[in-house]
Amino acid sequence: MSDWLVAPAEAVSEPLRISVPGDKSISHRALLFNTLAVLESGGRAQVSGLLEAEDVMRTLQACRQLGASVEQTGQGWALGGGERTSHALEIDCGNSGTTARLLLGALSGLGRSATLHGDASLSRRPMARVIAPLTAMGATFVTGERATLPLTIGAGALRGIDWTSTVASAQVKSAVLLAGLRAEGTTRYTEPTPSRDHTERMLGRMGAQLEVRGTTSTVTARPLEPVDVAVPGDISSAAFWLVAAAVLGRSVTVEGVGLNPTRTGCLDALVAMGADVRLDPGEGSGGEPAGAVTVHAGGRLRGTLISGALIPRLIDEIPVLAVAAAFAEGETVIRDAAELRVKESDRIAVVVDGLRAMGVEADATSDGMRIFGRGGRGPRAAELHSQGDHRIAMAFAIAGLACGMQVREVECVNTSYPGFLATLKRLSPRSRIAL
Ligand code: S3P
Repeated sequence: MSDWLVAPAEAVSEPLRISVPGDKSISHRALLFNTLAVLESGGRAQVSGLLEAEDVMRTLQACRQLGASVEQTGQGWALGGGERTSHALEIDCGNSGTTARLLLGALSGLGRSATLHGDASLSRRPMARVIAPLTAMGATFVTGERATLPLTIGAGALRGIDWTSTVASAQVKSAVLLAGLRAEGTTRYTEPTPSRDHTERMLGRMGAQLEVRGTTSTVTARPLEPVDVAVPGDISSAAFWLVAAAVLGRSVTVEGVGLNPTRTGCLDALVAMGADVRLDPGEGSGGEPAGAVTVHAGGRLRGTLISGALIPRLIDEIPVLAVAAAFAEGETVIRDAAELRVKESDRIAVVVDGLRAMGVEADATSDGMRIFGRGGRGPRAAELHSQGDHRIAMAFAIAGLACGMQVREVECVNTSYPGFLATLKRLSPRSRIAL
């Protein structure tokens, strides 16, 4: 296991231009949905800009197990029909909640018997939220008492349902819609507030009979057609550099990043904190809006309230926004974010502990946290364990750019952002890895 020794960033003033790897959510979907399409309708699809990180490779491996051929080409990845398999599958989802939850829906729809496995973190995460609607559709599951991985999906015919979810989760929504693609009748899914809509956009491009009205999506069975996808950059990865810019008072532009409004809550939060954020929308990519985002060198950050419908639009960026809050003037309150407790780690507990280690006053609440920013009085260098959570490791490495940091066990970063350290070193050349 290795650590990062993050040194404070060099005080240079020229603007920095950064590009980030492909969007993780869109990458999973481009592989899995095209697999369903090529197995059903034949044809081929080309995916460029795919995030080549561990989580997405789990989905890629599952697509191969389902019978798709997925090969690297000069332009990216090519998917084709391969050989459709029918034996019971053993699928290792690793650390990837998106792989597990999307597969639960897709495999139920295919009537395919399979057992899903995960690492220690994924095996603690709740699956009942997906199993409940799929069971109501007629799918069968064998699970332990806590309805977590490992779990086995049985073969069975599905019927449509009208389901209202209490959590705003794109993974649950996607699982139900994927199952609905193969169910008899109509499947209607309503969520409390809008979660990311990459599934609806991509399925729409693939010819699915799908209608979205407000927070309700309705789908009726119809075969999918494969579609080429150019994956835009991941705004969740871009957020690290945008927060770094805001905290350090440097100008940073991230190019070619996805700007889907269901994902841009972190930009709204940074604006509310007083950052100077500018968008330069481009042509879009893979059926998604995309462009460049710049945070200009500006004044001091101030505390803010992050709550309500904003939460699903920035759920994965909360650890790094909490770091921004630590360097802001005044109090930041994050609420309605109980979901953070069941991410790759309990992100409420881990973030609050990390901030306290840096000398920042912070309190955990049941559904969020309060952070009393130290502004100019500066949080101090500390040692932080990633708890195997990629976004925790990267968020506290960004804190290190301002005050120095030792981040322990950083291998987990490969789940979503393998090149993170190389970009970090552009801001802080003295930062290094310690084995
Ligand atoms: C994701 C949805 C979100 C997000 C995760 C990716 C997706 O999870 O936190 O990183 O690709 O659908 P939930 O659906 O659990 O909110």
